[in-house]
Amino acid sequence: MTAKYAIILAAGQGTRMKSKLYKVLHPVCGKPMVEHVLTQIEKNDMDEIVTVVGHGAQKVEETLGTRTKYTLQAEQLGTGHAVLQAESLLGDRDGMTLIACGDTPLFTAKTFSELFEYHKSKGAVATVLTAKAENPFGYGRIIRNELGIVEKIVEQKDTNKEEAAVKEINTGVYCFDNKELFHALHKISNDNSQGEYYLTDVMEIFQQEGKVVAAYRMKDFSESMGVNDRIALSKATAVMRMRINEEHMRNGVTLIDPQNTYIDTDVKIGSDTVIEPGVQLKGHTVIGNDCFIGAHSEILDSVIEDNVTVTASYLEEAIMHKESNIGPYSHLRPQADIGEAAHIGNFVEVKKAHIGKNTKVGHLTYVGDATLGKEINVGCGTIFVNYDGINKHHTNVGDYSFIGSGSNIIAPVEISDHAYVAAGSTITDDISSHDMAIARGRQVNKKGYFDHYPVAKAAIEAEKKQ
Ligand code: UD1
Ligand code: CA
Repeated sequence: MTAKYAIILAAGQGTRMKSKLYKVLHPVCGKPMVEHVLTQIEKNDMDEIVTVVGHGAQKVEETLGTRTKYTLQAEQLGTGHAVLQAESLLGDRDGMTLIACGDTPLFTAKTFSELFEYHKSKGAVATVLTAKAENPFGYGRIIRNELGIVEKIVEQKDTNKEEAAVKEINTGVYCFDNKELFHALHKISNDNSQGEYYLTDVMEIFQQEGKVVAAYRMKDFSESMGVNDRIALSKATAVMRMRINEEHMRNGVTLIDPQNTYIDTDVKIGSDTVIEPGVQLKGHTVIGNDCFIGAHSEILDSVIEDNVTVTASYLEEAIMHKESNIGPYSHLRPQADIGEAAHIGNFVEVKKAHIGKNTKVGHLTYVGDATLGKEINVGCGTIFVNYDGINKHHTNVGDYSFIGSGSNIIAPVEISDHAYVAAGSTITDDISSHDMAIARGRQVNKKGYFDHYPVAKAAIEAEKKQ
C-alpha cells in the first residue's frame, strides 16, 4: 500500500472577504470551510495530514484541534512557498501527497479518492484535478499541448489572450509523488505578475524534467468552487445546502421547500419527518422519526425525539421527548427538558427546567430553574420567579398538581404531589400533598362605587340632559 499524505493550505488572510474572520474559518452550512475540507480528506484513510497556517493560525488550530498537524507559514509568499513549509514534517517520506486549499469547501471524499486512483493508474509524479468552468475568470488555466498532455498551469493574472480563453481550470487540488513534490518546489521562482511562489509552477518543472504529469478532469464544476469573496461564499452555501437537503430527502425526510430549508452539515433527521419552509436546523441537532417541524422554527443543538411537533418556535440546547409538542411562538432555552407527550403552548419560555410526562404549560408562562412532575396543569400566565437579583433558586412541583392561572411561584419552594394552587396566588411557602394554597388579597365589593367614578359620573350626567 502506498502511504497517503495530505496538505491543506490555509495560511492566507482572504483580503477579498473584507472580514475580521480569517477566510478559511467562514462557515458554510454551519461548519468552517477548512473543516469541510479536512473532514472529506480524513475519509480517505490518510497516514498524515498537515495544515499550513499563517493568518489566524491560533484560531484555525483551535477549530481543527488534533485532527491534523500544523506548520506555520509566517509570511504568505504564495501557494508553492506554503507547501514547502510542510517539508520538515513530510519531505523525506515515500508516498502520495494530496494538496487541497482551505477555501474550497465542496470537494467530496469520493473525488479525492478518484484522484488518488487516477494518479496511481497513470504512474504520474503529479496529477492536477481540473474542471470545465463556463466562466473561468480568476482560476489558473490548464494549458495542454497538441497531444493533450498538461504543459503548465497559468494563473489568471499571467495569462495571454489565448490562455485566458481556455475553460479548463485548476481546481487547486493535486496529487503528487511526495518526494518529487518537495524536490520540484525548491526549483520554482517568484518571477510572475504577483511576485509569488506558485505551486502550479511545479507542473512545468516536471514537464521539463521529462516526468509524467497527468490531469484528472471532474464532471461537476460546482464541486470545485473556490471561495474568495462573499458572493462565492453564498453560492457555495447554496450548493452545499442542496447537497445536504437532497441527502435527507433520499433518507425519507419530507422537505416542503428544499431551497428554503436551512440544515447544517451535522444535523440528523429521522424518516417520515416533515419540515416546512423557512426552518433552520443548526449545530448538532438530532431529530427523530415522524416529527413535524413547522414553518420558521429555529432549532440549535437540540434533541427532538420521535413524533414531536414543533410549530414556529425557537429551541436552543433543549430536549423534547417523544410525542411532546410546542408552539406556536415559544422558546426553549438551554437545559429545557420537555417530557414525553408534554404540551408547551404559545408564548411560553422554559429554561433549565424539566417538564414531566403529559404535563401541560399552555400559555404565556415562564418556567425557569424548576422540576415539574407528570400530569400537571400549569395555568395561563404563571411565572416561576427564580431570580432574587443575585442568585437563581429552584422550584419543585409534584405529580398531578394544578397551578391556577396568573400565579407567581417564588423560588425556592416545594409543591408536593396532588397539590392545588388557586389562581392568582403568590406562593412563597411549601404546599403539602392534597392541600390547596390560596395566596391573594380577598375581594372587597364597594357598594355603588361605580357612580363616583368621574368618567362614569359625567356619562350619567350627559344621559340625564338628553
Ligand atoms: C489558486 C491556484 C489557482 C486555482 C485556484 C483554485 C495557485 C498559484 N493558484 O488560486 O491556479 O485555480 O487556487 O481555487 O496556487 N495560501 C497559503 N499561503 C499563501 C497563499 C495562499 O496558505 O502564501 C492558501 C490560501 O489560504 C488558500 C489557498 O492557499 O486557502 C489558495 O490561495 P488563493 O490566494 O485563494 O489562490 P487562488 O488565487 O484562488
Ligand atoms: Ca482561492
